[in-house]
Amino acid sequence: MFGIDILGTGSYTPAMRVVNDDLSKVVETSDEWISTRTGIKARHLADGESTWKMGAEAAKEAIKNAGIDVLDIGVIIDATITSDFYTPSVACVIQNEIGAWNAAAYDLNAACSGFVYAVDAAKRYLQTDPDLKYVLVVSNEMLSRITDFTDRSSCILFGDGAAAAVIGRSEKLFTSYIGADGRGAHSLYAKSHKVFHPFRTSQTDEIDSGDFAAGTVFLIQDGKEVYKFATKALPTAAQKAADKIGLDIGEIDWFIPHQANIRIIETAAKNLGVSMDKFIVNIEEHGNTSSASIPIAMHEAVAAGKIKRGDKLCLVGFGAGLTMGAVIIEY
Ligand code: UT7
Repeated sequence: MFGIDILGTGSYTPAMRVVNDDLSKVVETSDEWISTRTGIKARHLADGESTWKMGAEAAKEAIKNAGIDVLDIGVIIDATITSDFYTPSVACVIQNEIGAWNAAAYDLNAACSGFVYAVDAAKRYLQTDPDLKYVLVVSNEMLSRITDFTDRSSCILFGDGAAAAVIGRSEKLFTSYIGADGRGAHSLYAKSHKVFHPFRTSQTDEIDSGDFAAGTVFLIQDGKEVYKFATKALPTAAQKAADKIGLDIGEIDWFIPHQANIRIIETAAKNLGVSMDKFIVNIEEHGNTSSASIPIAMHEAVAAGKIKRGDKLCLVGFGAGLTMGAVIIEY
């Protein structure tokens, strides 16, 4: 089987730690509500760090742990929805910071499914280009940039952070599934800024669609719709990936789900018929860091010695788009 090898991982977590009681000073909420409805106790917020800087720190650690020559990286894919720039890509800025001069570099937007989408792409590059040695996948998010800290239903969920993985080729187990349903695009979105060119005659909001609210650049979500989608998307994506190679879900050692809400993860585990003991969960400390959530959880579990070489992993996510995806690999 053509597979991949996760040669090294790294992560970056901002030092600023905001606990639920801190948020209750900003919006009408409580530690009790947030803990029981989401499983989140704390989140880390960037305090001066940029999105690219967080990603670069995670990338450096991943490269060090992989023990590779940075010049052997042929592609950098940066999954982010909170870039510091419209252009250039964060991937190009990170390429410069780490000196990966032989790498093509671009950003990928699949929201919280971004890391899974990027690993899926990395495998395809490695499979089709024999000259390519390594792909660096980075996920870095500063959700505090787009969080409305007057909206108690969403601001309690999100955190900032980054993680990265150096990926090479192998003959280990690999299967993946990625999907999207744009009919749910209006359920979770953050708009870019308005158009101000001097010849503009239109008085309407810049996005030509009634489904997106006018005005705000902050993240808007229909929590209940996303919740419904998520509880189906996680088991569906994992199952579809497994079915492609006739793999029994019961053979997977660790599920590393997008860390959005503990109740979503518990429902997904139940629907898959898998014990919660097999789920890597760090939502209590990080909240939802979008595309960075899966690789941060993976890196922490690797660093803690929980995930070991040879373990079968299912990385599974969902997010704005609406997107979903799963990759099943042998670590
Ligand atoms: O990466 C993907 C990102 N998004 C998600 O994964 C979000 C998925 N959705 C969710 O996780 C949940 O829908 C939320 C955590 C966002 C909300 O939980 P819920 O159990 O669906 O709560 P709800 O929206 O039904 O609200 C219940 C009540 C409401 O009050 P009333 O109308 O019953 O009086 C809300 O106004 O809780 C209230 N509420 C809060 N109360 C205290 C909403 N947010 C808060 C809050 N603190 N932070």
